[in-house]
Amino acid sequence: MVCLGNICRSPMAEGLLRRKLNDIGSRSTVDSCGFEPYHIGDSPDARAQKTMMEHGIDICGHKARLFHPDDFNEFDLIFAMDKFNYGDIKRMAGGEENMKKVDLLVNVLYPGENRVVPDPYYGNADGFENTYAVLDKALDALISKYEK
Ligand code: 4NP
Repeated sequence: MVCLGNICRSPMAEGLLRRKLNDIGSRSTVDSCGFEPYHIGDSPDARAQKTMMEHGIDICGHKARLFHPDDFNEFDLIFAMDKFNYGDIKRMAGGEENMKKVDLLVNVLYPGENRVVPDPYYGNADGFENTYAVLDKALDALISKYEK
C-alpha cells in the first residue's frame, strides 16, 4: 500500500487489510510505504491513529518508510492511493514488467475508472472517516478478487 507521506492513507490501508486477512485466516502479508522523506520513521498521523482505533485497529506501531526498488521483488501486488503515487512508482519501476503488479487501489473496486483514495491530510477528522470508508470497500473487493 503506497501513498505520499506513509502516515495517513497507506498505513490505514495496511492496518485494515491486515485485519481483513487475519479475519479470513490468510497468510498473505501486507506493508505500506511512501515517497515523501519528510515523515520517515514517524508514527501514523494522530488523526489516522484515532480513526483506526475507533474501528478497533491499532496502527500506532507503524513507522513511515520510503518506497524502495526492492519492493518490486518483495511483493506480488503494489497499490497506489492516487495518481501521483502511481507515477512515482512508475518512475522507479524501470520497465513494464514491474508495472504489471501495480495499480491504483480503487481500480480493484471500479476497474479502469482511476478513482483515488482521498488524501485527508489537509482536512478535518471527517476526511479520515471518509478515507476509511473508501478503503473498506476497496479492500473488500481486493479480498474477493485475490483471496477467495
Ligand atoms: P498520506 O498523507 O500521503 O496519506 O500519508 C500525507 C501526509 C503528509 C503530507 C501529505 C499527505 N505532507 O505534505 O507532509
